[in-house]
Amino acid sequence: MIQVKVYRQQIQPTSTAFQNNHQPTTPEIAVRPDTSATKMPAWNPDKDIPSLASNVILITGGTAGLGSGSISELAKHAPAHIIFTGRNQQSADALIKKQSTATPNVKVTFIRCDISSFASIATASDEILAQISRLDIVMLNAGVMAVDAAVSVDGYEIQMMTNHLGHALLIRRLLPILQQTATTHGDARVINLTSVAYTQAPKLGIDFATLKTPQENQGGLIPGGKYPKAN
Ligand SMILES: NC(=O)c1ccc[n+]([C@@H]2O[C@H](COP(=O)([O-])OP(=O)(O)OC[C@H]3O[C@@H](n4cnc5c(N)ncnc54)[C@H](OP(=O)(O)O)[C@@H]3O)[C@@H](O)[C@H]2O)c1
Repeated sequence: MIQVKVYRQQIQPTSTAFQNNHQPTTPEIAVRPDTSATKMPAWNPDKDIPSLASNVILITGGTAGLGSGSISELAKHAPAHIIFTGRNQQSADALIKKQSTATPNVKVTFIRCDISSFASIATASDEILAQISRLDIVMLNAGVMAVDAAVSVDGYEIQMMTNHLGHALLIRRLLPILQQTATTHGDARVINLTSVAYTQAPKLGIDFATLKTPQENQGGLIPGGKYPKAN
């Protein structure tokens, strides 16, 4: 079974999106209640993340922030391979160097991928698939917020493209190996990060009519508040 978890809570810098990672859950799509107004439960990644032995993990946007922190925390639990993506080669090299000392037995690989470009995602997903025979965890983390109004190279509003559409294509391309991993090893997990800014989403939903424009008139840090809602 492939599990999709929806976390509608603010991500705290000192915590991660792995609050309930690797606890078996049913039903197939588990929607966690909105706990943004409540206190986060105590959670210690050293103790509360179980063994990840043999697991293959993919994290998008692993060169900084939550992605980079998650790589360091997950690597302590001995997965076979962590692949991370991003654009910043220098940051990627620095992280690989750090992990080669901190967790030398964990293979860590960087694959360049501009998640705001369909062509880059196609190339990167081929490179990922060429390196792995299973895929246990995918953390869809790469994202931007409050950038200048623009459209992507494919013509979509840049935040919706970077934070949602790009990941949708990536998962589409990785779905067969996720399904195969779930069948063979009993579980595969996709973790999709979002933001409490979903509350800004327009009441009528995503404005598809203007999705291929910069949407500069929709205002706010996130035009139309739509990508968190979509995620
Ligand atoms: N931190 C928070 O409090 C918070 C709150 C709500 C939601 N979030 C969400 O959580 C995720 C991580 O946030 P963060 O604070 O860790 O962000 P961050 O520190 O700014 O890191 C963002 C990561 O995304 C990657 N990225 C951005 N644009 C990209 C692109 N076009 N192609 C490929 N990679 C790209 C960056 O890699 P490169 O620079 O190498 O491309 C970087 O590794 C985001 O999706 C964000 O929207 C965070």
